[in-house]
Amino acid sequence: MATNRTFTMIKPDAVKNGHTGAILNDIIKGGFKIVAMKYTSLTKETAGAFYAVHKERGFYGELVDFMSSGPIVAAILEKDNAVEDFRKLIGATDPKKAEVGTIRNKYAESIEANAVHGSDSDENAEIEGNFYFSALERF
Ligand code: PPS
Repeated sequence: MATNRTFTMIKPDAVKNGHTGAILNDIIKGGFKIVAMKYTSLTKETAGAFYAVHKERGFYGELVDFMSSGPIVAAILEKDNAVEDFRKLIGATDPKKAEVGTIRNKYAESIEANAVHGSDSDENAEIEGNFYFSALERF
């Protein structure tokens, strides 16, 4: 059964381009409650650890460089069917393929600088939320 939490990051491109407020607004209007949030950044080491599951993929180095290139916003979100519904709200990984009106369609620059991350499973949502937030910070 689907749990009711997912994890997101607003990525360095979207923060740098001033889209943080608009993206948070879309997330809230999409029915998600923000239960934890922080403005922070990744080092190459922490980005490498976060994305270790993609280590063997050709773009891993670029992904790590990009994700450690500037500030991000990390958040845990709550809603029924959160993982699946959030991935619908953000649209396809490649913004050229993202449906009109989705967050990536509106704010992403490219498949690499694609504005937001959304967990791909309930299990990863929990792992990723725990990566950023201590038990005291997760309500
Ligand atoms: S997903 O969401 O996991 O199904 O998407 P996937 O295609 O497997 O991509 C995993 C993450 O890698 C990023 N990505 C890339 N970065 C740089 N260059 C290229 N070509 C590229 N292709 C995919 C993609 O944005 C995903 O990041 P997250 O943070 O998980 O959304």
